[in-house]
Amino acid sequence: MSARAAETHRSARPAAASKSLRFPGTTMNKLLCCALVFLDISIKWTTQETFPPKYLHYDAETSHQLLCDKCPPGTYLKQHCTAKWKTVCAPCPDHYYTDSWHTSDECLYCSPVCKELQYIKQECNRTHNRVCECKEGRYLEVEFCLKHRSCPPGFGVVQAGTPERNTVCRRCPDGFFSNETSSKAPCRKHTNCSVFGLLLTQKGNATHDNVCSGNNESTQKCGIDVTLCEEAFFRFAVPTKFTPNWLSVLVDNLPGTKVNAESVERIKRQHSSQEQTFQLLKLWKHQNKDQDMVKKIIQDIDLCENSVLRHIGHANLTFEQLRSLMESLPGKKVGAEDIEKTTKACKSSEQILKLLSLWRIKNGDQDTLKGLMHALKHSKTYHFPKTVTQSLKKTIRFLHSFTMYKLYQKLFLEMIGNQVQSVKISCL
Ligand SMILES: *[C@@H]1O[C@H](CO)[C@@H](O)[C@H](O)[C@H]1NC(C)=O
Ligand SMILES: *[C@@H]1O[C@H](CO)[C@@H](O)[C@H](O)[C@H]1NC(C)=O
Ligand SMILES: *[C@@H]1O[C@H](CO)[C@@H](O)[C@H](O)[C@H]1NC(C)=O
Ligand SMILES: *[C@@H]1O[C@H](CO)[C@@H](O)[C@H](O)[C@H]1NC(C)=O
Ligand SMILES: *[C@@H]1O[C@H](CO)[C@@H](O)[C@H](O)[C@H]1NC(C)=O
Ligand SMILES: *[C@@H]1O[C@H](CO)[C@@H](O)[C@H](O)[C@H]1NC(C)=O
Repeated sequence: MSARAAETHRSARPAAASKSLRFPGTTMNKLLCCALVFLDISIKWTTQETFPPKYLHYDAETSHQLLCDKCPPGTYLKQHCTAKWKTVCAPCPDHYYTDSWHTSDECLYCSPVCKELQYIKQECNRTHNRVCECKEGRYLEVEFCLKHRSCPPGFGVVQAGTPERNTVCRRCPDGFFSNETSSKAPCRKHTNCSVFGLLLTQKGNATHDNVCSGNNESTQKCGIDVTLCEEAFFRFAVPTKFTPNWLSVLVDNLPGTKVNAESVERIKRQHSSQEQTFQLLKLWKHQNKDQDMVKKIIQDIDLCENSVLRHIGHANLTFEQLRSLMESLPGKKVGAEDIEKTTKACKSSEQILKLLSLWRIKNGDQDTLKGLMHALKHSKTYHFPKTVTQSLKKTIRFLHSFTMYKLYQKLFLEMIGNQVQSVKISCL
């Protein structure tokens, strides 16, 4: 035995001694214990610290303990080493294998063909046994490949099944749901309606998502995003020049519940820079609708919208008349195609309002009222029917006389403070 082995042995002795003290017994016992520790250490030493790994072999010819090389994976032991010759290892025959360094004089027989519903993941060769695995979507239970469990509605997958293990399902916790039977789908979060500026109309449970709906502040189907009245209310906040962080400044200075960053990003993605201001104020209004001041604004906007509909809603213009009206507005024109789409999507009472909103967006948020006044000045050129001219005049007059909103703007500015004013407010 080499000096190194002896050293390892020596250093391990105190541990062996204390072990035998803890299990008091006969001297024989102690000796046996020490012998086992010695053996254990020599095995460790032979396997860990040398390469190729070695084993002790008693050589009958010389009556000596020899350290022989073990046989590598893929072979079996044909002859122990002698004082003169190294160990002789020979390759495993077909369908046999060994997968570690060893001292066995035979190889192991590869597992027979795979079971039903299994596939061969790894074919047998000299160094590896055949590995069978259940097909996709199944796991091994004792002898059979069974289908992974599907979690029913109300339950979600917390651990997907593997070839060895079944799916683990768990009941969806509060705020989550699963509406399908699936071996893959986890529980999903209920949709947060307010994040989308929508109202929660039916609260979800473990099997159903929240149901959101349009907030009825705008005519959803026809898709008028910002109404004439909202524009009248909020126009003051649209700056004449946009700085890149304009929206953030506005968000930071609006009182009440802040519009969250996610919604701000969504508004930025979905709307042109001018339109963003209206959308933000709209969402802010919706999220703070329980605050007294906002309640009043909402009431007044509702009143305003009812009046506008009364003035303009019964106009019932033909396609040609709508076209002339759009022609008469300054700037970029709303084309025939948009007019046609509008007449299809919107009730006749909403068509003018929708087209005016399209015109505003097309023209980088020009003041719609100013546009309408321009149109009226030239109404003779465009041969509007008298009833239409009158409706438009009334509407303009109404929105102008709707002076309350100027008051709100003042209130607003006071609340918002100086920061926003310094970004230059266009109106007032
Ligand atoms: C035996 O199969 C294993 C796993 O498939 C592979 O890594 C190894 O290289 C193969 N050995 C021979 C000798 O083909
Ligand atoms: C499950 O809920 C989602 C989200 O609300 C919905 O889109 C989907 O259609 C629902 N699936 C079934 C099967 O009800
Ligand atoms: C929904 O989103 C709003 C705004 O981001 C947040 O304040 C609220 O806590 C969310 N609700 C739920 C149930 O997560
Ligand atoms: C979950 O909500 C749906 C519809 O909102 C309802 O039909 C169902 O009974 C509810 N389930 C439970 C367990 O309350
Ligand atoms: C929205 O309006 C529709 C009809 O226009 C109505 O049936 C629905 O109840 C309203 N929703 C809310 C949340 O007010
Ligand atoms: C609008 O006018 C058309 C014809 O010009 C008519 O057929 C239609 O019924 C009218 N609609 C309403 C709501 O008055």
